[in-house]
Amino acid sequence: MPSSVPGPPPPAAVLCGLAGRVPSRVVTNAELAERLDTDDAWIRTRTGIRSRRVVAPGQATSDLAVDAGRLALASAGTDSVDAVIVATTTPDRPCPATAPVVAARLGLAGAAAFDVHAVCTGFVYGLATAAGLIASRAATRVLLIGADTYSTIVDPLDRANAVIFGDGAGAVVLRAGHSGEPGAVGHFDLGSDGAHEDLITVAAGGSRLPTATGETARADAYFAMRGNEVYRHAVLRMAASARTALTRAGWQAEDVDHFVPHQANLRILHAVAEDLGLPRERCVANVDTVGNTGAASIPLALTDAAARRRTRPGDRLLLTAFGGGLTWGSAVLTWPRLAAPAHPYPEEGPP
Ligand code: COA
Repeated sequence: MPSSVPGPPPPAAVLCGLAGRVPSRVVTNAELAERLDTDDAWIRTRTGIRSRRVVAPGQATSDLAVDAGRLALASAGTDSVDAVIVATTTPDRPCPATAPVVAARLGLAGAAAFDVHAVCTGFVYGLATAAGLIASRAATRVLLIGADTYSTIVDPLDRANAVIFGDGAGAVVLRAGHSGEPGAVGHFDLGSDGAHEDLITVAAGGSRLPTATGETARADAYFAMRGNEVYRHAVLRMAASARTALTRAGWQAEDVDHFVPHQANLRILHAVAEDLGLPRERCVANVDTVGNTGAASIPLALTDAAARRRTRPGDRLLLTAFGGGLTWGSAVLTWPRLAAPAHPYPEEGPP
């Protein structure tokens, strides 16, 4: 057997478009404290969150995804892609997937379209999937959208979870290019451990406990999380995954200009950065403004950083995520030559 595959190297996925979108309605900690047994100081101390965005009644995940996708296509200067991937835990409905309707509404009918369900790790899994489609030459351009509306699955009376999550969408366009050019994505680390499936769940609505029977307890239809245990796993798994991706890339932690973790909560982000030996200034954090937006959180944080002109061509980025499953994943990339995107929440003030 030959020790290497003959022929030219496979194309690399190169970031060429970026955008984010959040709903217009802001929910502050003070507003939550009016209807829940909580207060601003508790929420800020435990999570670092000041406010989050929430969809209007009837506004679905695909609505945010279409807005972010349209802006990302404009950022990339293109109106055609070969594949549309939507990473989400809150699809418009269990069947069909959300990506085909998003593709059709963006004028991309005919493109391959499917969802990735890896909970809050969905964007990183989607990035690896998109890179694989490009490397295999099944696609030369891919639109990847992370979009979630957790407000539609969190019990509004559940103070533990209602304070953490927010709604939003972030999108990137990837094109075929060379691994050495600015914007090239990879290497990756992906992993899971389903032995801990019960730490983050929505119990009903699947084949194990169908809602169609009408016997579903109200609590089973809502999102549930064992926060303390999740916290411990998140710090350990994210740090280990980040190290693996750095090793595969041949980078040291000090080479990283911007660490962009899934915005679970500020204490987790800082604990992981500290574990990696990265100063907090290199950790991109916007969880204070948007909360934990699930699969949208990394592309929203990227859009926030780029809109503030924190990222420069050639900068080295490390993305790391963790979520239900359990799942985790990391990716490295260099920053492309890309016009600064519009700020995803301009009403918060100039970036
Ligand atoms: N306001 C006030 N008190 C609250 C509260 C709220 N919103 N939510 C929970 N509490 C209470 C609890 O009921 C508990 O009270 P008790 O001691 O009387 O039982 C107390 O605060 C401490 O709860 P605990 O769960 O131990 O708090 P914590 O310090 O672990 O913080 C989280 C809770 C959820 C903020 C924390 O566990 C966490 O961040 N977990 C990770 C969550 C996450 O990021 N998930 C996404 C991963 S993708």
